Amino acid sequence: MAQASLPAAIEAPTSRGAIGFKFGSEGADLRTPIIAGNWKMNTTLSQAISLVKELRDKLDRIHGVDKVLCPPFISLAAVKELLQSTSVGLGAQNMYFEEKGAFTGEVAPNMVADLCQYVILGHSERRQYFGETDALINKKVQAALKAGLKPILCVGEKLAEKEAGKTIPIVSTQVRGALIGIPTPPGLIIAYEPIWAIGTGKAATGPDANSTIGAIRQIVSSLYGKEYARGVRIQYGGSVTGANIAEFISQPEIDGALVGGASLKAADFISIVEQTAAIKKAS
Ligand code: PGA
Repeated sequence: MAQASLPAAIEAPTSRGAIGFKFGSEGADLRTPIIAGNWKMNTTLSQAISLVKELRDKLDRIHGVDKVLCPPFISLAAVKELLQSTSVGLGAQNMYFEEKGAFTGEVAPNMVADLCQYVILGHSERRQYFGETDALINKKVQAALKAGLKPILCVGEKLAEKEAGKTIPIVSTQVRGALIGIPTPPGLIIAYEPIWAIGTGKAATGPDANSTIGAIRQIVSSLYGKEYARGVRIQYGGSVTGANIAEFISQPEIDGALVGGASLKAADFISIVEQTAAIKKAS
């Protein structure tokens, strides 16, 4: 529980340098880029199978990037079969924190871990439509880690919060709230997804996303130390497409993307992964 005794190092840093050091590209070579497709509540089982068949072989041949598909729960088992002996990983979009029991309609961590390596937690749609709080997300992150899953923890500010200059304090509260009481979390991935950019076609700019992700890395550093922070992967998400991925992935702090709408279009998703591999290899 290292962070309990840490000073409140991040009040509201306004830039990457705010607490005395910069990460920049430092450690970037330790971080394999990761592109995850969040299919959200789209695709029937047969549609999911068709989409995976379109994606699978092409994604499998792209090296130097971790590729993850996150279909709806009901398709996970079938998609797992289709991804056997490929390099494409599988993730769920949510899970409950309790181990088992009378929680009608919920899915337990070990059920997810039986099929998947990853789980998206704290997505803004879960926060917004299903009332998920930092305290609940904290329980889910703990439970996911206990089950051996890699959480993709989503954080991001609303438009009004951005306009009020509150982006960093908001994401700081979300990151700290989700990780409170958790010792160094192996395999943690963070996705910075400004809510105003999700599904709107209005992505952040590369430099703005880079700056916020740099600040998130510093928050992680204040919790778990610089070495851990240098290795933690932080994605950008929000209206990422094949047409704008290069702007994000060429930034030193940005280690990949969480892709919604464009992950349902095979050609676009493959292009996002291909460009990521090429740009990170060259940098
Ligand atoms: P989008 O969604 O790419 O459709 O904006 C991203 C997300 O919600 O993860």
